[in-house]
Amino acid sequence: MNADTTPCGTTTRDIACENAGTADIDVRIRELGPGRFDVLDAVLAALSPTSRYRRFHTSAPRPTPQVLALLAAVDGRSHIAVAAFTGSGRPVGIARIIAVPGGRSELAVEVADDWQGRGIGARLVRAVVERGRAAGHRVVHADVLAENVAAQALFLSVFPAAVAVSGGHEVGFAAELAAPRDPVLVAA
Ligand SMILES: CC(C)(COP(=O)(O)OP(=O)(O)OC[C@H]1O[C@@H](n2cnc3c(N)ncnc32)[C@H](O)[C@@H]1OP(=O)(O)O)[C@@H](O)C(=O)NCCC(=O)NCCS
Repeated sequence: MNADTTPCGTTTRDIACENAGTADIDVRIRELGPGRFDVLDAVLAALSPTSRYRRFHTSAPRPTPQVLALLAAVDGRSHIAVAAFTGSGRPVGIARIIAVPGGRSELAVEVADDWQGRGIGARLVRAVVERGRAAGHRVVHADVLAENVAAQALFLSVFPAAVAVSGGHEVGFAAELAAPRDPVLVAA
């Protein structure tokens, strides 16, 4: 099942959601729980070969089962994923942040081709970064193909102070995340 029409604030399967609608599109951003292969499948199926290549840096038509299992293995802390759902419940984009050794976190995002250019990618990245910041992620990194002007524009829009390092076919983006605005009190 791909549809997710649960109203914001009533879901128990996923963790949280917010309305990211604009005047002309109604899109909800919802944090994903683990094992949402249905959402993964729907979004991957809605990517053109070019978008899949730009996202995964391979021309394979579909990620391997091992990669799919990794993408579905979110835990809400070291691996956080958010998805965008249309008003009718169709998943149209995913952003994720995964902590990797060395103290940084890899950031990745994809939006269904039919829904690109409407601000959804930027909303997804902002949403996952907000959750990542609260969970203790401090530096995000993304390797973007040099030809991928859309992703470069997106990262520079969301992270105006990002450091971009060009290395042949790829541009590496790194950005520091400020500490959460409201500090969490921890019991001694
Ligand atoms: C990259 C991608 C996620 C962008 O998502 P999107 O929903 O189309 O992007 P948005 O509409 O939110 O646009 C975000 C910013 O990028 C700019 N942008 C988007 N597409 C652009 C393009 N083709 N050329 C130039 N700028 C572009 C927008 O103008 C916007 O800038 P602004 O905030 O200054 O106005 C989408 O194109 C995609 O899924 N591509 C395939 C997968 C991929 O490349 N992932 C990134 C590598 S991890």
